[in-house]
Amino acid sequence: MLGVCYYPEHWPESMWAQDAKEMRELGLRYVRIGEFSWSRIEANAGAYTFEWLDRAIETLANAGLEVIMCTPTATPPKWLIDKYPDILPVDINTGTTRGFGSRRHYDFSSKNYFREAMRISEVLAKRYGEHPAICGWQTDNEIACHDTTHSGSVAAKSAFQAWCKKRYQAIDKLNREWGTVFWSMEYQNFEQIELPILAVTETHPAHQLAYRRFSSDQVISFHNRMIEIIRQYAPNRFVTHNFIPMVDTQTDNYALAENLDFVSYDNYPLGRSDLFFADRPAEEFKPYMRTGHPDFASYDFDQSRGISKKNFWIMEQQPGPVNWAHHNPRPEKGMVRLWSWQAFAHGADCVCYFRWRQAPFAQEQMHAGVKRNDNSKAAAWAEIEQMRDELTTVNFSIEAPVQARVAIISGTVNQWVSEIERQGDSYNHQKTEFSYYSALRQLGLAVDFISTDSDFEPYDLIIAPCLPIVDDTFIKKCQQTSAHFVFGPRSGSKTDELSLAPNLPPGKLQTLLPIKVLSTETIRPDCNEKLFYQGNTFESRCWREELHVPNGATIVASYHDDTPAVVRHGKTTYVASLTCDAFLISLFENLANECAIPNIRLPKDMRIVQRGDIAYVFNYASYPQEFPDQNMGSFILGQAQLNAFDVAVIKINNT
Ligand code: GAL
Repeated sequence: MLGVCYYPEHWPESMWAQDAKEMRELGLRYVRIGEFSWSRIEANAGAYTFEWLDRAIETLANAGLEVIMCTPTATPPKWLIDKYPDILPVDINTGTTRGFGSRRHYDFSSKNYFREAMRISEVLAKRYGEHPAICGWQTDNEIACHDTTHSGSVAAKSAFQAWCKKRYQAIDKLNREWGTVFWSMEYQNFEQIELPILAVTETHPAHQLAYRRFSSDQVISFHNRMIEIIRQYAPNRFVTHNFIPMVDTQTDNYALAENLDFVSYDNYPLGRSDLFFADRPAEEFKPYMRTGHPDFASYDFDQSRGISKKNFWIMEQQPGPVNWAHHNPRPEKGMVRLWSWQAFAHGADCVCYFRWRQAPFAQEQMHAGVKRNDNSKAAAWAEIEQMRDELTTVNFSIEAPVQARVAIISGTVNQWVSEIERQGDSYNHQKTEFSYYSALRQLGLAVDFISTDSDFEPYDLIIAPCLPIVDDTFIKKCQQTSAHFVFGPRSGSKTDELSLAPNLPPGKLQTLLPIKVLSTETIRPDCNEKLFYQGNTFESRCWREELHVPNGATIVASYHDDTPAVVRHGKTTYVASLTCDAFLISLFENLANECAIPNIRLPKDMRIVQRGDIAYVFNYASYPQEFPDQNMGSFILGQAQLNAFDVAVIKINNT
């Protein structure tokens, strides 16, 4: 259940056999290779040199390792760029071409690149598709990372025009649905449509939304074609992709996952936390500087499980400091083990570490590996050894699911709408969603991420932190299930083309809850106001909606001036403001109790999750803490008193 990312092309061949032997000794089974090796596979057009790769695979296989082969399309080589310069993408903020010299320097709309990427994928798949040592494939690498979904190229523009023609059919329809009469933006034909970039001030929101939909579709068709090619030549092997969070790719991860066997995720909790919590005060950030926030890694694990509706893999796990965040601390001793266990607990079937040995050269020379560049064992080594032994002790079934009765509805379009229409600086889609998730996790609740298309039946409590666009099918589904729904601010407020709901926000949600949003204000994050709920005082912050509440709906919480802030009607609750975490915890605790979902107020920085009949407890704190529910079952690993950065595993009593 463990693996590693390896770059045989970076090391003398004389080292490979010893590397492979040590990998096995460390308990690793899988080795991912090849994702950046194009210049070594094809040094010039059609001049293939596969012998070294054949030998590398054979060496790994001889040691008993299974290989995950990647298509090398994240790094088109120099000769290819020189031959087809239109492969390079165009920066949408400057209009200049993004150059060769790093990676992901390709435009999803370049026809030349599409053909060449599929060609090299086919050559590889043909050669290695049924190779006995290769158990599966990874497509590309972190597709759309480094802001590459959007390109301002000529090719992107003409592909966008064609996409618009297909979606809207007639130019009048597009003009009407977008509302281009505003600022005299009307078009006479599709060929006039520009990309919504490099304009004097903000561009039309409907235009922006269409461009985001289009760009995401480009990534998905590129990726789907690659999957098809691999499947043709490797029919009995799995195909996966190493995902990163949607907020970084601007691509619909649900759609991207659709044709894969399972999703893999690249887990860099410290690097990503450093960016995500950059605006938090030091006293809040520092305790998690070397661990990441207790809900941060699992937020992505649960999303990875959600986008494919099944268990997932970690294809890259940070083993020490990375090199690419604003600050790159080393993990606290024990955290590599803790993150690995946490991934398994949230539904991972395999954890691969990135990378085997720290590279002494190039961009990532400051990025830790499992081994250092002098071949000595780095800090993560001992923790992986411990994982190897503990996995045998715990011996959980990878068939075992994480079963959640609470779901969060998420989706790319929601994120896009709130990014396009910011209405001030203080609303952040991901942070809003994270705060809802974190509140649920502090109550020990397992959470599934679902889309509006998912089956709602398994859930008793369904929460949409931000769902601006809803359709009639969604409303009907809500009416047909018995779950309680909670909608955060902005929900239902927009049409599919990002105009205001004609009956006022929350638009179609008014069928479920007869309220109207009369106005919306955004306020500075340091200008919080009071929020009253069940005799306690909490905080309303950043985003506040003024509600009209007719008779029949119940006011659950009020603003400082006694006007309604949270309203309930039957099994629907609407939260009209962003709030403090304590309010969300209280609200969700009450709703979980009402829905008879067992929950527990966990000690700060302690988390629990159940997979199958095993519960996993994590102590993110730098001091020992006691797990409060002593009667849950028997400890297979650890004990009720958890050390700092420690893990305990409990076999749950059948009762
Ligand atoms: C990942 C990427 C790897 C490597 C790693 C460094 O995002 O897939 O190739 O760059 O980050 O942390």
